Amino acid sequence: MERIGVGIIGMGVGRRQAPGFLADDRVSHVVLCDNDPERLKATADELEISDTTADWRDLMARDDLGLISVASPDHLHCEMSVAALDMGKHVLCEKPMAMDLVEARQMIAAVERSGKKLMVNNILRFFERFQYVKQLVESGELGEIYAAEGDYIHNTLHLIRNGWRGPHRHSVATGGGVHLIDLLRWIVGEVDEAFCYATRGILSKEEAKSPDCMVAVLRFKNGAVAKSMTNMAAQRPAIHNLILYGTKGVFINRKPDGILYRGESSEAELVTAKYAPADTGKGLKGAAVGHLLDSIEHDNQPLVDVYEGARSIAVCDAMYRSSVSGQPVPVEEP
Ligand SMILES: NC(=O)c1ccc[n+]([C@@H]2O[C@H](COP(=O)([O-])OP(=O)(O)OC[C@H]3O[C@@H](n4cnc5c(N)ncnc54)[C@H](O)[C@@H]3O)[C@@H](O)[C@H]2O)c1
Repeated sequence: MERIGVGIIGMGVGRRQAPGFLADDRVSHVVLCDNDPERLKATADELEISDTTADWRDLMARDDLGLISVASPDHLHCEMSVAALDMGKHVLCEKPMAMDLVEARQMIAAVERSGKKLMVNNILRFFERFQYVKQLVESGELGEIYAAEGDYIHNTLHLIRNGWRGPHRHSVATGGGVHLIDLLRWIVGEVDEAFCYATRGILSKEEAKSPDCMVAVLRFKNGAVAKSMTNMAAQRPAIHNLILYGTKGVFINRKPDGILYRGESSEAELVTAKYAPADTGKGLKGAAVGHLLDSIEHDNQPLVDVYEGARSIAVCDAMYRSSVSGQPVPVEEP
């Protein structure tokens, strides 16, 4: 594979992806972009990268860049990703891929007309713990999964009050809950219908455009049901609460170890698979970088390609519309 130049937009999570790119032999050079000059300079100094720009459109015009990482605020992902794809570049797009289904469809169209790859950084699929659980389910050890819980619980009050999330976030399900929605889809199956309520637990309308807590009931095409809470203001340590109820066993994600109950036994078996990516040397947010470069090198679909990303957005979109209408909403095909 010819070495590839990488442009990274956004020096928050983008800074945390950088070690993954810098450590990979398939990457020739990395260019950094942020429209906050102080943050850009501080990151460039720290990473010892001199090639920087404050204008993301500069990256799109450069022939020496073949991959753009879009790690900007959520509401900019669609515009930046579509521009990069239309300039013939592969894209690593931070979650949530898009604000809603309309944007997700625009991104699918851009992937199809460019023939380039877009991967969404739904990092939980790269956690050893969840890869282990996925295998457990696929091997039939838990039997049929008939019920689940997938809650994204995180106290992000300081981020919501002090940055772009408060004024711009479409819904907390799309903004944060999408991590668990993607995990449920990956492990349990496709979601058919969503019924969701939202409430303002802590943040006022002046502080945040969208309520900080949403609770949904999901029905899957295979008949399973699930509950999914997104709570971005929880005054407790963060957890990706995943519980799977199968006909032959139950898995509960806990810290530091998960728990497994087999059959009728109420004796807990510890699940010690790491609650983090296998390759932590590249940082939490850079774990998927090698996978995307592999899929470019071998022309394979990445694990969370544009269609997978869009299906998770479609579930969040149905949850949001249900929270507004008070009615169950079918999940649309992207
Ligand atoms: N995969 C994960 O686990 C994970 C975790 C946290 C955040 N995220 C996602 O990553 C994205 C970034 O989040 P963050 O926490 O790093 O936010 P952040 O605010 O810390 O960083 C975003 C950066 O983008 C820059 N920016 C904003 N507009 C820009 C523009 N027009 N051109 C260039 N730069 C611009 C800002 O100056 C800022 O430095 C979000 O979409 C977020 O949802 C993903």
